[in-house]
Amino acid sequence: MAHPALDLSGITVTFGGIHALTDVNLTLKPGQIHALIGPNGAGKTTLVSVLSGELKPDHGTVRLSGENINSLKPYQRARRGLLRTYQLTALFQHIPLKQNILLSLEARDRARLSIGDLFRFGVSKRYASEVAEILENFKLTDKADVVPSSLSHGDRRRLELAMAIIANPSVLLLDEPLAGLSTADAVALVEMIQHQLRGKTPVLLVEHDMDAVFSLADEITVMVNGNVLLTGSPEEVRNSEEVQAAYLSDEDDF
Ligand SMILES: Nc1ncnc2c1ncn2[C@@H]1O[C@H](COP(=O)(O)OP(=O)(O)O)[C@@H](O)[C@H]1O
Ligand SMILES: [Mg+2]
Repeated sequence: MAHPALDLSGITVTFGGIHALTDVNLTLKPGQIHALIGPNGAGKTTLVSVLSGELKPDHGTVRLSGENINSLKPYQRARRGLLRTYQLTALFQHIPLKQNILLSLEARDRARLSIGDLFRFGVSKRYASEVAEILENFKLTDKADVVPSSLSHGDRRRLELAMAIIANPSVLLLDEPLAGLSTADAVALVEMIQHQLRGKTPVLLVEHDMDAVFSLADEITVMVNGNVLLTGSPEEVRNSEEVQAAYLSDEDDF
């Protein structure tokens, strides 16, 4: 049987006397968007930090495609394809978008290109249609000649997502991708996550916007006070009395 894209088992983290995570298990299946939700203090950010390797758990194991990656540093995990969007902002701020995209396509294929290819003119010509397609898919065509530093917030978020997808991650961690976006920009980004990632790249999505979570997620894990309350389909989560009770006891922010 194929290994899950990502598998967390028995993750426990304490800060002094605070139990930030207690025996957390979570499995991300290939091609799935798995949302992680829960009120403030539930442990979502702590779990993402454990995954990316910035925080060492007291107990538990993180496996990427079946391989134990506990001892790997964040950059080593990134090299194996476990990417967090902000790690991808390897954007060259002073060169146009189309050049940034071209460079990341070349970086993606470096191992496959021969020395001859790299010296030959026309490599960038070969990528021209792929660059154009990416700009189109992410609604950035009219920004092709703009430098990243002068993009709007929404354009920038879409470019980051495009760069993430070009890198062809084995698992993508999206930590509040909609935070701070206007409604129109949020709708556009949700649509892109839906079309460009769903069914292809396994995604762990931490997001406060419940409409987005319920429209995107194949599976949802609800955490409360460092514990997993429930993992299930959007339908199961929506209908769970336990989840509703947790929402009601913390209705300010979910
Ligand atoms: N660096 C830290 N030092 C001490 N306590 C922390 C630290 N980071 C998080 N916590 C505590 O761990 C718990 C989980 O926090 P967090 O992972 O940020 O939750 P969430 O992202 O779901 O809001 C909270 O009680 C929080 O106060
Ligand atoms: Mg948080």
